[in-house]
Amino acid sequence: MNQTRNEMDRFAKELIKRAGQTIIKSFDDVLNIETKSNANDLVTNMDKQIERFFVKEIQDKYPDHKILGEEGFGDQVKSLDGTVWIIDPIDGTMNFVHQQRNFAISIGVYEEGEGILGYIYDVVHDELYWASKGEGAYLNDKKLSPLKEVKLEESILALNATWVAPHERIPFEAFTPLVRKARGTRSYGSAALELAYIATGGIDGYMTMRLAPWDVAGGKVIIEEVGGKMTDLSNNPLNLIDSSPVFAGNASLHDEIYTEYLSKYFKS
Ligand code: IPD
Ligand code: CA
Ligand code: CA
Repeated sequence: MNQTRNEMDRFAKELIKRAGQTIIKSFDDVLNIETKSNANDLVTNMDKQIERFFVKEIQDKYPDHKILGEEGFGDQVKSLDGTVWIIDPIDGTMNFVHQQRNFAISIGVYEEGEGILGYIYDVVHDELYWASKGEGAYLNDKKLSPLKEVKLEESILALNATWVAPHERIPFEAFTPLVRKARGTRSYGSAALELAYIATGGIDGYMTMRLAPWDVAGGKVIIEEVGGKMTDLSNNPLNLIDSSPVFAGNASLHDEIYTEYLSKYFKS
């Protein structure tokens, strides 16, 4: 890692660990819970506090970097020119509120549109998934292996049950045969953790209809370092400025699923 990236990496990890400790300490406090776009879209005082912490620390150290944060304390980011930190202070807020587990801090650092550093921190388990472009991906200090080929019938897919039930706007028929043929399905309720599990090979494919840049920015860097593939559901490159559907997975399985199951419904 060159010196600048090395310093950013050390700085990011230190902030992430400090934020994690703050979250753990808050577990005994009463949360202030509000809703955003709908009754199930939750935000708490901790989501806001943690994002404000990252924004302040990053602005102090790197005043010329831009910050795209879910809770809006960063900048109005309209392009990925320059260096942009894309931050989800708590991914899986519903789990955070209901379970105090199965949530993560997710950060991606992009330079001129290219992901150079990615972090997903499972706070409760003290598990930091991270990667530096071109230098591999890690879970804490352990290097992750490149993903091996897997067939659909031996795979575990992560997808939300909503996508398989009859739906006005979603071609749920695209997903039914996949669910039948896969070895199993899972849904963890944190996009970032689902992407981290793709990177470890614990799940093989993840499909969802709508994620924001902060849900995927860290995971994309990590997944690509182990040879995984991440696109939208139409097999087009992901757009990290707006929300879009997301299809991440083991590269061989991604090809199989897109070609044989999704291409009929999601044209590229
Ligand atoms: C949500 C989680 C969830 C996904 C939602 C996201 P949040 O993020 O990642 O798994 O299905 O689309 O919005 O709101 O908890 O940061
Ligand atoms: Ca999120
Ligand atoms: Ca969030």
